[in-house]
Amino acid sequence: MEFERLLHGGDYNPEQWMDCPEVLKEDIALMKEAHVNCVTLGVFSWAVLEPEEGEYRLEWLEGMIDRLYRNGIRTVLATPSGAMPHWLTNKYPETMQVRADGGRNLPGRRHNFCYTSGKMREKIREMDRKLAEMASRQPGVLMWHISNEMGGNFSDSACHCQECQRAFRQWLKERYGTLEALNKAWWTVFWSHVYTDWEQIHSPVPHGETTLHGLNLDWHRFVTHQMTDFLQWEIASVREYSDLPATTNFMFFFRTLDYYKLQEGLDVVSWDSYPFWHKERDEVPVAVKTAAYHSMMRSLKKAPFLLMESTPSCINWRENNPLKHPGMHMLSSMQAVAHGSNSVQYFQWRKGRGSAEKFHGAVLDHRNGENTRTFRDVAEVGKRLETLDSLIRQSCNRPRAAMVFDWENWWAAEDATGPRLDMDYQREFLRHYRAFWEAGVDVDMINMDGELEGYDMVSAPLNYLYKEGYAEKVERYVAAGGIYITTYWSGIVDETDLCFIGEHPLRKVLGIRQEEIDAPGADFRNCVKYRDVAYETGGICEVVHEETAEVLARYEKEYYKGKPVLTVNRFGNGKAYYLAAEPEQKLLNAFYGECMEQAGIGNPFMTKLPYGVTAAERKGETDLIFLQNFREEPVAAEVKGSYVEADTGKAWQEEILLKAFECKVLIRKQG
Ligand code: GLA
Ligand code: ZN
Repeated sequence: MEFERLLHGGDYNPEQWMDCPEVLKEDIALMKEAHVNCVTLGVFSWAVLEPEEGEYRLEWLEGMIDRLYRNGIRTVLATPSGAMPHWLTNKYPETMQVRADGGRNLPGRRHNFCYTSGKMREKIREMDRKLAEMASRQPGVLMWHISNEMGGNFSDSACHCQECQRAFRQWLKERYGTLEALNKAWWTVFWSHVYTDWEQIHSPVPHGETTLHGLNLDWHRFVTHQMTDFLQWEIASVREYSDLPATTNFMFFFRTLDYYKLQEGLDVVSWDSYPFWHKERDEVPVAVKTAAYHSMMRSLKKAPFLLMESTPSCINWRENNPLKHPGMHMLSSMQAVAHGSNSVQYFQWRKGRGSAEKFHGAVLDHRNGENTRTFRDVAEVGKRLETLDSLIRQSCNRPRAAMVFDWENWWAAEDATGPRLDMDYQREFLRHYRAFWEAGVDVDMINMDGELEGYDMVSAPLNYLYKEGYAEKVERYVAAGGIYITTYWSGIVDETDLCFIGEHPLRKVLGIRQEEIDAPGADFRNCVKYRDVAYETGGICEVVHEETAEVLARYEKEYYKGKPVLTVNRFGNGKAYYLAAEPEQKLLNAFYGECMEQAGIGNPFMTKLPYGVTAAERKGETDLIFLQNFREEPVAAEVKGSYVEADTGKAWQEEILLKAFECKVLIRKQG
């Protein structure tokens, strides 16, 4: 989608202040002062938009959109399906979600409706049509924000009502055709759980079936399928009157929903980012995780995304909720932009007086109006975005390396009972990602359906499940000259979670034979030497044998002492690396450093960046380099080449000085 400007603003809930016209008036004046050009309206407004069934009250909203527009502020208009009014849940209890334990939720809270329910869909459609009809008259409306944080209240098991069970069985029928095929795929002879009638199939629940991994995996897929179907259905509800672009706000790596699928019907991806800054003195782990989430959101469409929510100060739902220290608001906002965001938006504009979020950070606090550090920080971000607007909008990140992050692999890998039960795909993935981050190199994320061509290097840690055709795709990629990295616990099962028999699907490409896997525990340390430096490896140690591969590091302890830990195999014009154990971060960094060098990939400065400093680059007619310091102290980064700051024109060479939590936006000088 085309952006006419970078968006700065956020969730605005004027319906909570309808009896305070002076507040509403002040809001617009202060929004201008804070360089806000866009707000999100209506996220939880259903009860005000339709106070009784069929009685619509949209005038206030239309008036608000119009007034904002006349003041230069556009509206992202939300459909209100994130939370249901009491008249609806009371009259139609079937719209409420059924938990895994079989109990139906009582009215209240949010994100807890049944997405299959025909009644729920009908009621949402009626509401959305009215909204869309109104929106079509209002030039202030910029785009649709469909519902809110889909699945936000779902545990991994979603809605288990009878309508959902029927839809699940239908989905399985379409997938497998016959019960015989399903029984085979799920290995149901195990413990005598062969299905003889489709009606016997029930979603996996703690007090019922949990041991059929094929069932569990398909249930995860179905939940995504059903949510995608709901989302597309809701988009279709507004489309009748409005062809404005549509988004919905995603959340981090949200395990319940496969975002590669969910994003399909959207025009632009957006997400809500709430990192735990100042959790510890060292911000790097949180910065790494947040960078990965941003990169994922960009990678879903390989295009700029929107930061739909973030907090300007603190949140209120963790055990402790530190305020952003001076500098962090600018840095964390620019971090999003560095990885491809075309907006910085907040939850929320003004703190409410009551209920659960009254102490959640907002641009305006209960007291002190614009005279707060938070307000000034927000205004400063708004101003900077205005200054850099056209430069940023003409660019997007185009990394040369990719990492495979796949939801189906995630579900399957963590469901496996053995070799260890605390297998954590995300954690391990982020350790590998961190090696790129510390090197100042941005990466794309793709799933196993993604194209590998176009990347000089692809890394796929903990790739337990191989989708149909994936091994062949990797083989073609490496043969054609690609660099591929994978690890222990990969190539174990196929798409239905049945183990591959015979040999590793990539045996030839990797040039090794995988034999067994030892899981001595997270605290266990083995030693390896890599390029003459000693490192430790931890919890998982796979025993493999080199065939055509060259061994780069070997175990130094245990009965598998001398067996390979790290190998590289030349295959066709490319190389495939294999990591047989779970090594400490330092070894990962060194190893990835070598692979990046092989692939000719490095950060824009062609130097090693100091700890806590990273870079990301948006390419365009003018390339923009975002140099970010996540340390709460000044630091000097050595650089090759000459640079100017995009905001101020200040020139730098050899060494760039960064203040505590500073992000510089730099342009490389030619010659
Ligand atoms: C989510 C929701 C918002 C708000 C914030 C609070 O992102 O979408 O409505 O509850 O969390 O952090
Ligand atoms: Zn349901």
